[in-house]
Amino acid sequence: MPPKWALGFSQCRGDYTREDQAREIAAEFRKRKIPCDIIYQDIGWTEGLQDFDWRKNNYTNPKGMVKDLSDMGFKMIVSQDPVISQANQKQWKEADALGHLVKDIRTGKSYDMPWPWGGNCGVVDFTKPEVADWWGSYQQKPLNDGVRGFWTDMGEPAWSNEDAVDRLNMKHHLGMHNEIHNVYGFTWDKVVTEQFYKHNPNKRIFQMTRSAYAGLQRYTFGWSGDSGNGSNVLDGWKQMVNQIPVGLSAGMGLIPFWTCDISGYCGDIKDYDAMAELYVRWLQFGVFTPLSRAHHEGGNAVEPWKFGTEAENISRKSIEMKYRLFPYLYTYAREAHDTGLPIMRALLLEYPNDKETFKLNGQFLVGKELLVAPVVEQGAVTKEVYLPEGEWIDFNNGKTKYKGEQWITVDAPLNTIPVFVKKGSIIPQMPVMQYIDEKKVYPVTFEIFPANINKETSFVFYEDDGESRDYERDVFCKTKISSKATNEDIKITIGERESKGYSPAGPRNFILKIHTSSKPKDIFAGGEKLKMLKQMRWRKILKPILQK
Ligand code: NOJ
Repeated sequence: MPPKWALGFSQCRGDYTREDQAREIAAEFRKRKIPCDIIYQDIGWTEGLQDFDWRKNNYTNPKGMVKDLSDMGFKMIVSQDPVISQANQKQWKEADALGHLVKDIRTGKSYDMPWPWGGNCGVVDFTKPEVADWWGSYQQKPLNDGVRGFWTDMGEPAWSNEDAVDRLNMKHHLGMHNEIHNVYGFTWDKVVTEQFYKHNPNKRIFQMTRSAYAGLQRYTFGWSGDSGNGSNVLDGWKQMVNQIPVGLSAGMGLIPFWTCDISGYCGDIKDYDAMAELYVRWLQFGVFTPLSRAHHEGGNAVEPWKFGTEAENISRKSIEMKYRLFPYLYTYAREAHDTGLPIMRALLLEYPNDKETFKLNGQFLVGKELLVAPVVEQGAVTKEVYLPEGEWIDFNNGKTKYKGEQWITVDAPLNTIPVFVKKGSIIPQMPVMQYIDEKKVYPVTFEIFPANINKETSFVFYEDDGESRDYERDVFCKTKISSKATNEDIKITIGERESKGYSPAGPRNFILKIHTSSKPKDIFAGGEKLKMLKQMRWRKILKPILQK
């Protein structure tokens, strides 16, 4: 399970490598009321590759920075590369003397790999058991300063990746690089995670990587690496389109916690107005990837406010939707943990008998109940969507109904992400917060779209503490809510909370938002007839609860 906040929004940039900048960005998110949980620092945060010390001139009080950010609800994740730079002689010599670096069979010495920054590097041999504790103490340094996890980058290992050179000449403890190339990154992630657990008992790790192997979900989350169009950043549409099948394939490859770089990664952004549409459309898709991170190379800023007021407002609205859906998404995170079913899900997983779903690359399910069809085409203001069997309702207005097993074309101006909910669904939601758990006590709204007459529908809402590993011992709570409609009425049943050692803080109010075709004549709660209040009075009653 990821920590809860991993399902919030996160922000990054290649040159996020300074304390003043991190503080500034954090303040800006809060000032503009754009929800955000994570601020990343790219590899330049560290003084010498890879001593895990903060770059001296860039950070004057790193511990204080992390603490201040944490007080504002931000978590910091830092990058690590699997190499030791020769420019960092102290650590390189130490690693070399310990025999912790991959060898060059031509010389018998530590392999000298060109690296895009920090000079030539030695490649750390994570296949050698003794390396684990050594690396574990180094990586613990920023964790002791309050950093919450890692972004393991370049684990192919990049840089040159030359088939004819590195693969044939690099020798690891486990064998020649050629033989273990695909699992090298995996061995690194295993070390990073196991060492994290060793030094930080009962804490969940946040770790995200771009190169590992089947089974990586045991140790790390995934992101798709450098997308976008390097020659012409404005032409990144095709790369964005590709990210949908990449994400769906990741999910089917058992990598449920995944994202891509919102905005792409490659290419200099010179004209922010011209880039706004691509950014907005990428973000609208990105908020439905479980980890949602905006990132771009170098100093190309991709914070939501960089692209003009309209883009900022749409981005805020889209990110807010992600936060509102958190109780739903987190329930599905648990399902992913238990069963491997991804949160962002290819339609063919749910509708394997519908051949039309086999070729859908432009839409996906989020969980079982929501179908998301982001616009990924430049200039488009409509979207063609395939709806599988059942009836589907426009989730944006809760009203417009469509029959399934057909293609439809829907309006999708720039401020709209086409999202549909299946008739017969219950979607738990929370009030928008600036970060996950900003408010400890909050009501959960169950938005109920009753099933057809005499059919029951239910949702088992999952909660745990979101930070510890107690969930591995099944410390959590679940609440089942079900609805059944007959010709006369709709009956909603909220089951007893099944609490296994965890209960959410404070009183937990449930708000039921029931979509009916007509106004109900009477409403009963536990057999008692309720008084119908005027909308104004409802607002009066609900407002203080929601604010709490
Ligand atoms: C490559 C990664 O894919 C990218 O996201 C990162 O910003 C750079 N390395 C620099 O660390």
